[in-house]
Amino acid sequence: MAGHSNYVPQSAAAKWLESRLPVISLVRGSFVDFPTPKNLNYWWTFGGILFFVLIAQILTGIVLVMHYTASTDAAFASVEHIMRDVNFGWLLRYLHANGASMFFIAVFIHMFRGMYYGSYKAPREISWILGVIIFLIMMATAFMGYVLPWGQMSFWGATVITNLFSALPLVGEPIVQWLWGGFAVDNPTLNRFFSLHYLLPFMIFGVVLLHVWAFHTTGNNNPTGIQPKTKQDTLPFHPYYTMKDAFAIVVFMIFFAYFVFYIPNYLGHADNYIEADPLVTPAHIVPEWYFLPFYAILRAVPDKLGGVILMFGSIAVLFVLPWLDTSKVRSGAYRPLFKQFFWIFAAVCVGLGYLGAMPAEGIYVVLARILTAYYFAHFLIILPLLGFLEKPNATPNSISESVLGGSGSGQPAGAVAAPETK
Ligand code: HEM
Repeated sequence: MAGHSNYVPQSAAAKWLESRLPVISLVRGSFVDFPTPKNLNYWWTFGGILFFVLIAQILTGIVLVMHYTASTDAAFASVEHIMRDVNFGWLLRYLHANGASMFFIAVFIHMFRGMYYGSYKAPREISWILGVIIFLIMMATAFMGYVLPWGQMSFWGATVITNLFSALPLVGEPIVQWLWGGFAVDNPTLNRFFSLHYLLPFMIFGVVLLHVWAFHTTGNNNPTGIQPKTKQDTLPFHPYYTMKDAFAIVVFMIFFAYFVFYIPNYLGHADNYIEADPLVTPAHIVPEWYFLPFYAILRAVPDKLGGVILMFGSIAVLFVLPWLDTSKVRSGAYRPLFKQFFWIFAAVCVGLGYLGAMPAEGIYVVLARILTAYYFAHFLIILPLLGFLEKPNATPNSISESVLGGSGSGQPAGAVAAPETK
């Protein structure tokens, strides 16, 4: 992360520290002097927003745990106690519950930003792959967190999702019992989910550090997709991007606050205000909104094992995305066909989300099958072929040229391979 600092320790104490643990130059090199492309747009503020939400989740979570009881007898009541008796407990809980949704809104925008501007392409494959790992851990964390209030959806959601593993031949049943710590979702399950729900955010934090290290090694991508060539193409991270990120975080906080203070239960399910009852199955078991596209893929396949494979496959395919996209041009801004397919893909994901919330019957299943097929076709057929079939627009010679309005004058269309890989 360091290596870009021109920091020279001034005081005797700073010199003493620098020669023993150069933490000041590390931070300055990473977040003060770090040369950042000067043309980043607001889609690049979502990394900072995500960092803010991660810290907010960890802090609110730590205080919630001071009042929460992880036992099937007391969990539901302890959450009600937080809501009614604990000073500002309602605020802590609504911040944490809505914070999970905010985290996913920000991460989806961050991922689609990466897909549009080709941030996953060489040399940033590792940043992308670490991102997919973060996304997986985030989903596991959110799933286990939702079980903790021990409401009806907590219990039945946990039952449905853990049962998916039973589809595996031979080892399926033993794995499910091992996950449960018994023969049903019960106290041992709640306890281990609580333990892991506390642990995983710190693992996310660790992987985020690697993520930042990786894209600080390659340098940030930018809307042109062209690597900075001279000093003119970059700005020091501070004060330019610290201020821009801070502004974006404040705007995001207003959006977040609207949910917390006006519609705190809008994204939740009413059934989770009923205590878990293993003898009463809710009419519709639906996961939280951010799982819905994956839930739609799971239910699109008539065979249980097939559904599980496709659902995990829909995330696994993201790991190999850097090698599926064959285009020499990095940024979607210069790819006329890709742009159209990108928006179709985004609409397909939203459509899958909608279908995940609908009953798995009739026309909904048919549509879910079509959209699931399209989801995979996008990665496995469209992206590999587009690189060969598409004629990209001309790209500018440099970031400065694009900022100063000379875009398009650099290279004739079709002769755009060189600057992208430099
Ligand atoms: C806790 C979650 C995450 C945090 C805190 C985080 C943080 C960041 C930050 C601060 C940046 C630089 C600024 C920016 O590009 O917005 C960044 C870049 C990047 N992130 Fe993430 N990220 C997270 C999750 C993800 C996920 C889930 C993915 C993809 C699956 C991902 C993919 C990328 C890529 C490819 C870059 C390089 C982008 C570029 O320079 O254009 N990140 N991330």
